[in-house]
Amino acid sequence: MKISQSDRAYQQCTNPFCKATFSIQEVRVSCKKCGSLLDVEYDWDRLPVPRSLNYFEHRWATKGTELEGRLDFSGVWRFRELMPFYRTEEDIVTIGEGRTVLQKADILGRHVGMKPGRLMLQYEGLNPSGSFKDNGMTAAFTHARIVGAKRVACASTGNTSASLALFASLAEVPGVVFIGSGKIAFGKLSQALDYGALTLQIKGDFDSCLRRVRQIAVDIPEIGIYLMNSVNPFRLEGQKSIMFRILEACGWDPPDWIIVPGGNLGNCSAFGKAFIELTKLGLIKRVPRLAVINASGANTLNQLFEHKKLRWNNGEVDCHILGDFYNHLNQTNTRANTVASAIEIGRPVNLPKALRALDIMNGVTREVPDEHILEARAMVARYGFGCEPASAASLAGLQVLLQQQVISPDDRVVCILTGHELKDANVTVKYHTGIDMKAAQDLAPRSEPHGLLSNQPIQVADDLPSIISALGGNPEWAAKVTDVDVGPNLGGEY
Ligand code: F0G
Repeated sequence: MKISQSDRAYQQCTNPFCKATFSIQEVRVSCKKCGSLLDVEYDWDRLPVPRSLNYFEHRWATKGTELEGRLDFSGVWRFRELMPFYRTEEDIVTIGEGRTVLQKADILGRHVGMKPGRLMLQYEGLNPSGSFKDNGMTAAFTHARIVGAKRVACASTGNTSASLALFASLAEVPGVVFIGSGKIAFGKLSQALDYGALTLQIKGDFDSCLRRVRQIAVDIPEIGIYLMNSVNPFRLEGQKSIMFRILEACGWDPPDWIIVPGGNLGNCSAFGKAFIELTKLGLIKRVPRLAVINASGANTLNQLFEHKKLRWNNGEVDCHILGDFYNHLNQTNTRANTVASAIEIGRPVNLPKALRALDIMNGVTREVPDEHILEARAMVARYGFGCEPASAASLAGLQVLLQQQVISPDDRVVCILTGHELKDANVTVKYHTGIDMKAAQDLAPRSEPHGLLSNQPIQVADDLPSIISALGGNPEWAAKVTDVDVGPNLGGEY
């Protein structure tokens, strides 16, 4: 099925009272009119949508090295009719992402009190860069190619930077990653350096990094950055495919529950969008329930949803609840803090979309303390293929929901394991031996790197002129940035 249809896809404001539309050719991370987040939308009536999801199965047989075969091999583009924003198939940037498996986890299930055959684990750590981010990055790089982006960048707790760096290297587009000082697991940092991304270690945390990279991407066009974080609506198009693969593995019969860790809330937002669309297209009869699990030290979503009862409310999200919450974080100088560094995020940018996903998927949220995350991670490793700490929040969340009888041992449950165990080996070694390898390395004498391809990270203060200089720009451009904090809005001021 060949498609050439970018006129049938467009970007649309998620605020139902605005609904402004923008062309696919525009590079935006929020609505020009009201500042809300954007979706990629489709004129489905004018697109060749398969009549049944079974259609996608034939692609298992057609993979190969030519373009069409490579698209069929990709666990994302195998479902390309469900994300048809590209102009032609030549636009698509793929590295063989999304070849991940849904695994029955009976032994682990028995240990947490599930009935046999009921617990399944979706191993997104089996992606090329070792995390689910590759599902979204392939789509964002495809859009970057459509608009002719010259340089791509992201802020990251580690996995987005690893994925961006890998795609940037293979697509031959310069990549820049902003990471917080001492905030990212070594496995992820080593990937960004190894794949050759310009790595800026900002003296701050993820929330500071995202704020800086957004300011630069939006307000300083001279630097020429295309933003790859999950505020980029194209990334979430690719992440819908995680749901398509799970449905496929379940013989297109949806499970009862999807459980996913929540950080910046892009993934759960993408899952919600997948089910909105599958329902609209009549391709599915039942929608699974969603559980989004925060770490207790980074619990913004759970606090707002579970305790303050903030809801999507047909798009009329109560800005006062949001504003009061963020003001409180500011006044008490509360920063996110958890051993699950991937989800150490206090101001999740996709919050409104996550509320929409919880609405359509009749979802719940919970938060789990670090000790439970560490034990859950160790259990996945003992009785499965392993995962990084943030991913295990999903299993720790399942344990809470079983205990509270929200989930029954007979329900069919899929926990999304978002990242590979080897991403954060320090946590594993410390769990088993008590030795903090990271601290030991920090104390070790430093020597200059001397490899031919050595790529040292650059330490930068959390201020715009320094960051702009590190990117080769003029520090005076900092004056162009309208310096508004990420606050009680529906997606950002930018
Ligand atoms: N699990 C892992 C392993 C992650 O790396 C992330 C996010 C999440 C869960 C949360 O997903 O943000 O879509 O809610 N990592 C981002 C990063 C923030 O920069 O790598 P989310």
